[in-house]
Amino acid sequence: MSSPADRVESAPVEDSVVIEDISEGDILLDAQGVKVHFPIKKGVIIDRTVGHVYAVDGIDLQIRRGETYGLVGESGCGKSTLGRALLQLEEMTEGSVFFGGVDLASLKGETLRKQRRHMQMVFQDPLGSLDPRQTVEQLLLEGMRAHGLTKGIDARARLIELLTAVGLPRTALSKYPHEFSGGQRQRVGIARALSVDPALIVADEPVSALDVSVQAQVINLLADLQEEFGLTFLVIAHDLAVVRHISDRVGVMYLGALVEEADADDLYAEPLHPYTRALMSAVPVPDPTIEDSRERILLSGDLPSPANPPAGCRFHTRCPWRQPERCDTERPELRVVQIDGVPASQRVACHYAEQIASGELQPHEVATVATDPSDQESDRDDSFFGPASVTEIG
Ligand SMILES: Nc1ncnc2c1ncn2[C@@H]1O[C@H](COP(=O)(O)OP(=O)(O)OP(=O)(O)O)[C@@H](O)[C@H]1O
Ligand code: SF4
Ligand SMILES: [Mg+2]
Repeated sequence: MSSPADRVESAPVEDSVVIEDISEGDILLDAQGVKVHFPIKKGVIIDRTVGHVYAVDGIDLQIRRGETYGLVGESGCGKSTLGRALLQLEEMTEGSVFFGGVDLASLKGETLRKQRRHMQMVFQDPLGSLDPRQTVEQLLLEGMRAHGLTKGIDARARLIELLTAVGLPRTALSKYPHEFSGGQRQRVGIARALSVDPALIVADEPVSALDVSVQAQVINLLADLQEEFGLTFLVIAHDLAVVRHISDRVGVMYLGALVEEADADDLYAEPLHPYTRALMSAVPVPDPTIEDSRERILLSGDLPSPANPPAGCRFHTRCPWRQPERCDTERPELRVVQIDGVPASQRVACHYAEQIASGELQPHEVATVATDPSDQESDRDDSFFGPASVTEIG
């Protein structure tokens, strides 16, 4: 787990990354204070910015070489936007991303293009991300050629090696994406990411479009590939169960920010943030005795709108442990907690994590209040703002 002292210093050191210089366990990617705010425009003739969607709103994240970092959270909390911002596929409003010590914002043109080879993405919908007019051979060769990786090698042997790595037969080379099942297509997507020999792969919901029966196979494939090729993964999912078995560390996101981050075993053994506890309590346990007796925390209401996030702790509108004043006004930082047996690597953004863990604070009811639909139809400039969907009374 990283401490501020581990962090890569902010000055750009080189203009390109030498991956071989970064040992396993060293920080490969270091994101600091990342914000992505999308402007909301309004107006028929002249567009004016009338607000922002605070999709990612202040995230520090370090990923070490050779680890799998699982990023989880509800739909719309900003996971994909963060993943894209880390790869410089989304413009950041604020913050910086260092990859192998190099400030990615300092890279331009050809240097940035070369750099992209080291950071690949696997998408949720392989059919949408693979050109339907290209055979698997063409799809795999495209990236390799663009980065000059076919020169002086037996390209066909390399393609067969890639297919073998992802568990597809060599006959797949002449096929088109639509000729495969969903799981096989995702294997093609993974082979394409692997084809340029990247150091980091961001897999955005890599199994959520697949049948449940195939999900485990693809997750196991990612785990095998990591071991075989020493890859580093950021795996994004809305389901804690999906990332559980492959993640070394897990970050839980809520409305544009991390609310908890820990080694996977620690997080699953003792989730500390009320939101993580609620997510975890929704994951079924195979043992029926444990399943029947364990604590369930039901979250009321939907995620509030990221265009109008609640003040203070963003989770306060849904939190069963919310305390007056402080929770509503002061935004909690991700911090090391003072709880016996909890390591410094488990950080939590909750003012009352210690009191909640000790039982000193007990959960209370959170009542939902239906929002007035007329609000949404009003002529006000801020009418597009989705009001926080739940409000606690009393
Ligand atoms: N280009 C964009 N312009 C405006 N708003 C955007 C844009 N991209 C994403 N958003 C908004 O930013 C917020 C975060 O979106 P994002 O896709 O990152 O969430 P997510 O956690 O990946 O959700 P999901 O689990 O559904 O994929 C959402 O409210 C979304 O509508
Ligand atoms: S800071 Fe308050 S509202 Fe936020 S999670 Fe902790 S107890 Fe709940
Ligand atoms: Mg997404």
